[in-house]
Amino acid sequence: SNGVPDAKNLRVKLVLLGDSGVGKSCIVLRFVRGQFDPTSKVTIGASFLSQTIALQDSTTVKFEIWDTAGQERSCPCQQRLELPLELQKHGSPDIVLALVGNKADLHENREVPVQDGMDYAEKNGMFFIETSAKTADNINQLFEEIAKRLL
Ligand code: GTP
Ligand code: MG
Repeated sequence: SNGVPDAKNLRVKLVLLGDSGVGKSCIVLRFVRGQFDPTSKVTIGASFLSQTIALQDSTTVKFEIWDTAGQERSCPCQQRLELPLELQKHGSPDIVLALVGNKADLHENREVPVQDGMDYAEKNGMFFIETSAKTADNINQLFEEIAKRLL
C-alpha cells in the first residue's frame, strides 16, 4: 500500500499490432522515453518495454508493452481485417481495442479519411485515435484512454 486512500494500482498488458513501418515502435519510444527516432529499425520478433502512468484520481497504471514485428505476418491485409473479430472471440472479455492512425503530422500524405477510421473502429468495438510519434500529438492520450476504459 502507498498509504493513499482509494488508490488503485493496475497492471495492463498491451500489444501493438500493425503493418511494418506504420510507427508502432516509435509510438512506444515516444510514450516510454519521450523520444522520436527518424531512423527507427524494423522490429525483429518483438520487444518488451514498460511504463507506469498516474491518472488524476491517484490510480497508477503499469503498461507492460509488447511491440511486435509487422513484417512477420504472411498476409498483413487479411490479418488487418480479421484481427478485431479474432480478438473479441478469443481474447479476454475485458479487452480494450484501440485503432490508431499514426503519422498524423504527414497531413499531405493522408490515405485514410478520419471518418473511415471512426466508422471502422465503431463497427469493430474499438476506439479511434490519430497520433503522431514524431510530434507527440495524442500519444499520452492514447494510453490514458486505454487505462480509463479498463477502470
Ligand atoms: P516494424 O517494426 O517493421 O513492424 O515497423 P514499426 O511499425 O515499428 O515502424 P517504426 O516505428 O520503426 O517506424 C517506421 C518509420 O516511420 C520510421 O522511419 C519512423 O521514423 C517513421 N515514423 C514513425 N512514426 C511516425 C510519425 O508519427 N510521423 C512521421 N512523420 N514518421 C513516423
Ligand atoms: Mg517496430
